[in-house]
Amino acid sequence: MALSFDLPENPSFLGDDVIQGVWANPGFGQYFTDHMALANWSEESGWHNDRLTEYSQVSMEPASAVYHYAQEIFEGLKAYRHADGSVWLFRPDANARRFENSAHRLALPVLPPEDFVTSVRQLTALDSRWVPGEEEQSLYLRPFMMAAENFLGVRPAHSVLYTVIASPVGAYFAGGVAPVDIWISRDFSRVATGGTGSAKCGGNYAASLLPQELAYDKGCSQVLFVDAAEKRWIEELGGMNFFMITKDDELVTPELNGNILPGVTRDSILTVAPDLGLKPVERPISVDEVTGGITSGEIRELFACGTAAVITPIGSLKDEDGEYRIDTDKATHTIPLRNHLLDIQYGRVADKHGWMQQVC
Ligand code: COI
Repeated sequence: MALSFDLPENPSFLGDDVIQGVWANPGFGQYFTDHMALANWSEESGWHNDRLTEYSQVSMEPASAVYHYAQEIFEGLKAYRHADGSVWLFRPDANARRFENSAHRLALPVLPPEDFVTSVRQLTALDSRWVPGEEEQSLYLRPFMMAAENFLGVRPAHSVLYTVIASPVGAYFAGGVAPVDIWISRDFSRVATGGTGSAKCGGNYAASLLPQELAYDKGCSQVLFVDAAEKRWIEELGGMNFFMITKDDELVTPELNGNILPGVTRDSILTVAPDLGLKPVERPISVDEVTGGITSGEIRELFACGTAAVITPIGSLKDEDGEYRIDTDKATHTIPLRNHLLDIQYGRVADKHGWMQQVC
């Protein structure tokens, strides 16, 4: 039976002054709305006890398996307030399908995609007061699922907790859409073939933290991961997918090879590219092709994309051998692509792909 995540009978709400204080400077992922969605799963009962409650601590015993073996997955998607005050989700069904694939890879139970969408819609509806309306602002929804069985044996947990929390957010990077410098990591890999690279699981992000710290030390704000076997093929930035634009208006991104997260923003960019005069191409990209292409002028623009930051121009790639700098003043496609996606999300242009779902 489908889960309903019914609204609580007497929800309590924080005052409007608190929300307006958050909207003044939301940052990213620092503040959380009044409520959260929860559901339990057990081997005996399947999915049950779906509910919306006040946002509060989740109590789990120290023996809970997620603390030991990181059997956990998550998603990220956004709700936008349109000019008429209505609130819309962007492609929640795409996140639901990816969550299903991630659950499979982490040996977690599958939450049916329609239940995922219901949970996100219900929480957004209940906490719609928190959806900001300014440019670059939205309500970031974070569904996640974790092993909740108190057991130290290494096997898939027999009980699991699903949760959705919501956070009003502004720009992901403090510098907004300013170009970022990227360090090419060859000493550390994010994933290897057969690993969890295409799943959105916390472990992948944990593995990216040390290389990320080392990139800061090199004056870069992000890391670019290459394949673990040859250290040659570009994969992704850890939290964002990678794109380049050639002088012939090809929009190229590494093909999904099992190591790369199939980003919803990545897919959306590939889909809208022809509308903006770009030819989308998915194929392997080597570091040499990019560094050589920047030097020769063949490659004109680089950017990273994800739900959180949408599209972020890349100003330079750096490694032990040197720095390869893009002339971002001459970039003609990156910002129009970004604006086009934002226009769809904020309801300023027609949603011809049927991506937006109205919540209220
Ligand atoms: C995204 O932009 O979608 C990400 O995955 C980054 C997020 C984990 C903060």
